[in-house]
Amino acid sequence: MPKKSIADIDVNQKNVLLRADFNVPLDQGRVRDDTRIRAVLPTIEYLLSKGAKLILASHLGRPKGKSVSELKMDPVALKLSELLGKPVNKIGQIVGPQVLKAVSEMQSGDILLLENLRFEKGEESNDREFARQLSEPIDLFVNDAFGTAHRAHASTVGVAAYVPAVAGLLMEKEIEELSRCLENPRRPLTAILGGAKVSDKINVIRRFLELADQLLMGGGMANPFLAARGNSMGNSFYEKDLLETALSIISESEKSQCRLVLPDDLVVSKALKENNPSKVMVPEDIDGDWQAVDIGPQTVKKFSSYIASSAMIVWNGPLGVFEVPPFDQGTSQIAREIVKSDAYSVVGGGDLVAALDSLGLAGDIGFISTGGGATLEFWEGKELPGIKVLEDK
Ligand code: 3PG
Repeated sequence: MPKKSIADIDVNQKNVLLRADFNVPLDQGRVRDDTRIRAVLPTIEYLLSKGAKLILASHLGRPKGKSVSELKMDPVALKLSELLGKPVNKIGQIVGPQVLKAVSEMQSGDILLLENLRFEKGEESNDREFARQLSEPIDLFVNDAFGTAHRAHASTVGVAAYVPAVAGLLMEKEIEELSRCLENPRRPLTAILGGAKVSDKINVIRRFLELADQLLMGGGMANPFLAARGNSMGNSFYEKDLLETALSIISESEKSQCRLVLPDDLVVSKALKENNPSKVMVPEDIDGDWQAVDIGPQTVKKFSSYIASSAMIVWNGPLGVFEVPPFDQGTSQIAREIVKSDAYSVVGGGDLVAALDSLGLAGDIGFISTGGGATLEFWEGKELPGIKVLEDK
């Protein structure tokens, strides 16, 4: 059932709590990547243009219920006011008399940013009283924090018990775009999955084996599959306890309509250091100290031919150790092939987004999700708690 959004209600003169995902990387007290902040700007601008008083809230990092000075929201306030070209009043509290007073003094069009929600223990435990306090000064709850929608916290779920709750424009767009890959996707649909670990992607693999025409796998998560096929994989990282799971997924794929495509060759090195000597090997030959660090040229070629004939591509996770050049080459080449192709592409997951940004290709991708874990859980077919609580249309 579609969810109500801010476009369906009157927000004029209302005190609106906008839950955003401003969980952004910081570097020496400044925002290093403002993608997630920019993604919420349309919602902020829409609400301001309709006369709302805007109370913004987000978590930043994992302070675990304690105040941590490096995780205060000040760098976010600074970046936000730079992007909006207007002042953002940041307050050092989340709930309580000072917040109530600050909100009571707000005019339509004003913005108040609360302190890091996770400085309060009640946030992650979804404490009822904390959620009630959060809702105290507000008339309406707007959830635009898609990246946190898989967490049932006070600011994503609890608060909706006290005030009407609707989706922001980013939340609406994420749901629409990510659903497109699941319901009636354009075909051929190619899923590309990478990243270091397979443990957090098992359900997504199974889901795409049901949905996609081919599933291309690279990165460390391909290693247990290659090992399950009898390759020793040398010193390559992989979750050894997942060999059985990998085997059963391989046999499920043999019965499914979807082709599971694993790397034919790999770039291997003896250490994860920039420009460390490397060579290309087939999985059968990887032994001793050698470890897989990227997909090899034959694999790039094979993946590229699937990409060229796809109508839709979904991609999560880099295909090599992207942060250690030149082991970023496989991921970069695949990114370029996707951009070159006619396929509509949807990319999810933080690491990959940073990789696309550094290649200057982010603007050429059909849709880039702001979610990491949330995107994966959405693709798994789970109902995310932060979406479930929003009012139906
Ligand atoms: C994310 O970065 O994936 C979200 O902001 C959620 O953060 P969390 O994994 O700390 O809950």
